[in-house]
Amino acid sequence: MANAADTQKILVLTGASRGIGHATVKRFSEEGWRVITCSRQPFPKNCPWPAGEEDHLQIDLSDPTSIETGIGELRQRLDGKPLHALVNNAGISPKRDGGRMDSTATPINIWHEVFQVNFFAPIMLARGLADALKDGQGTIVNVTSIAGSRVHNFAGTAYATSKAALSALTREMANDFGSMGVRVNAIAPGEIKTDILSPSAEAVAVPDIPMGRLGTTEEVADSIYFLCSDEAGYVNGAELHINGGQHV
Ligand SMILES: NC(=O)c1ccc[n+]([C@@H]2O[C@H](COP(=O)([O-])OP(=O)(O)OC[C@H]3O[C@@H](n4cnc5c(N)ncnc54)[C@H](OP(=O)(O)O)[C@@H]3O)[C@@H](O)[C@H]2O)c1
Repeated sequence: MANAADTQKILVLTGASRGIGHATVKRFSEEGWRVITCSRQPFPKNCPWPAGEEDHLQIDLSDPTSIETGIGELRQRLDGKPLHALVNNAGISPKRDGGRMDSTATPINIWHEVFQVNFFAPIMLARGLADALKDGQGTIVNVTSIAGSRVHNFAGTAYATSKAALSALTREMANDFGSMGVRVNAIAPGEIKTDILSPSAEAVAVPDIPMGRLGTTEEVADSIYFLCSDEAGYVNGAELHINGGQHV
């Protein structure tokens, strides 16, 4: 008879230490999934989740070598088991003196770093874990942003273009991984109450949001969970807006 560890579903999640990633690890843990998390900092002891510490890896997604080493470690942790989901959530949105960096002023080295974390890391991880995802007939969720489809008051050009590229990559991946039985979708949050949000964003953004409020990290985690569940079994290549109607 198979024991629970053999049948437990497994998620690899980047950027789990706070914000949307933290709500996501809690949601999947509550549903009985094993969650292997990756971020630069050690396991956040102030907000733990079951079995979190031993399944946390420190990877710097801005460094391609750290990603390659991390993929090797992730494969070791999986130990031949199938992978059911990869959620590419980690992202950076640099500001200058708290303000927006536009296309005329963004230093090219920062632009490269943003693309490395927000765009190249997701495809590197997906390619590195493709066999395990295929074995699990799993699914990938890329976290994009409303800033990928319109000029944003706070998010800068490097961030916006990296998220637009990640949307396009999601479409390409849905085609390429779909033929392996691996679904690939994106979620595009609007203004969600987290550290990435500028302090004045709430006052500026809320009048533009039909629902008249910011979103919560739990609401985003619920949508990620839906896309990774069997209820979304035929959803492939979609980008789900989670923004209270801000895009309409
Ligand atoms: N909050 C919003 O309103 C909003 C809106 C649209 C889209 N999003 C997107 O949603 C995702 C999560 O956003 P959030 O607001 O939850 O962000 P957050 O609170 O700033 O958390 C970002 C996470 O990414 C990790 N991270 C950052 N740089 C990393 C690196 N080089 N290597 C590994 N991990 C790294 C951080 O952990 P460490 O510091 O430990 O590395 C942290 O866990 C991002 O992709 C963001 O672009 C957010």
